[in-house]
Amino acid sequence: MKKVLICLLSLVLVISITGCGNNKKDNKEAENKKENNEIVTSNNSVVLYFSATGTTKIIANKIAKESNSDIIEIIPKEEYKKEDLDYNNDCRANREQNDDNARPEIKNDIDISKYDTIFLGYPIWWGTNPKIILTLLDKYDFTGKTIIPFCTSGSSDIKNSVNDLRNYKSDLIIKDGKRFSGSASDEEIKSFINENINISNDSKEVINSVKTIINKKEYKIVLEDNETAKSFVNLLPKEFTMSELNGNEKYIYLDNTLPTNASNPKRINAGDVMLYGNNCLVIFYKSFDTSYSYTKIGHIDNLPNLGNGNITVRFER
Ligand SMILES: Cc1cc2nc3c(=O)[nH]c(=O)nc-3n(C[C@H](O)[C@H](O)[C@H](O)COP(=O)(O)O)c2cc1C
Repeated sequence: MKKVLICLLSLVLVISITGCGNNKKDNKEAENKKENNEIVTSNNSVVLYFSATGTTKIIANKIAKESNSDIIEIIPKEEYKKEDLDYNNDCRANREQNDDNARPEIKNDIDISKYDTIFLGYPIWWGTNPKIILTLLDKYDFTGKTIIPFCTSGSSDIKNSVNDLRNYKSDLIIKDGKRFSGSASDEEIKSFINENINISNDSKEVINSVKTIINKKEYKIVLEDNETAKSFVNLLPKEFTMSELNGNEKYIYLDNTLPTNASNPKRINAGDVMLYGNNCLVIFYKSFDTSYSYTKIGHIDNLPNLGNGNITVRFER
């Protein structure tokens, strides 16, 4: 009996020592991550990508690794063979890109329900995203999630594809994204993640003000606690040229639409930042009575008269 007890005790001791060791290792790893400036993100981000010839896949893997994100490949039901991608001839990929109704089927079931932030990767085909990305957006509900696009290409930029995606699903939050070459450096990948994921819509993160730079001077927008303000924050950072109107406001039509809950405020106060309709961002620099309806995004204290003409305004978290 005594022997059995000793054995048991030794076993417990061994397990607890090994356990301790692991904890220490974990702690050490966490420390190392901090020391190496590795980006530690919440686990609610995923890299979702389509890659026909493997280039986008390389970047997708790097983004997933550096951002600690999960990774899911968008697999076409009908694989793209070499001849399907022979864009100098009448190949399948070309035909799909020329067909507004083409929605190539996706083979795998994709569960995005647990993710708030989605890095969405694809190659550029004829200046835009492959049609399978539209199949993805049709099939799954991306409402309220932040989509951060990335692409690889021979040379084309990502901008055109992002505009196309925003026009296709105007209610989605789609950030500006970035084009990579297949040989993008780790530094390039890290700064892309830093620019985007630090400002991810982590549900626990409460942001109640936004920095804005107008005519090189910094102001603070104190945000309203509403969905419009939250969605606006998810678009940042952004720089706009805002147009003058009526000697009391500067405005810009956003590429994205934002949620609205408009009402007539009766009076506009200088410094109010409002949404008119679902995509017109307005900064008022004079107070006056109004009969129009707006959704309030926030307010800038002590905003001076912004004067005549267009102005450049930068919004940052
Ligand atoms: C059908 C087709 C059309 C393409 N169109 C463009 C284009 O318009 N601009 C560009 O820079 N590259 C274009 N490319 C090149 C791809 O964007 C590039 O090779 C990309 O890195 C491939 O990514 P993947 O290996 O992940 O599929 C095209 C490739 C194919 C197959």
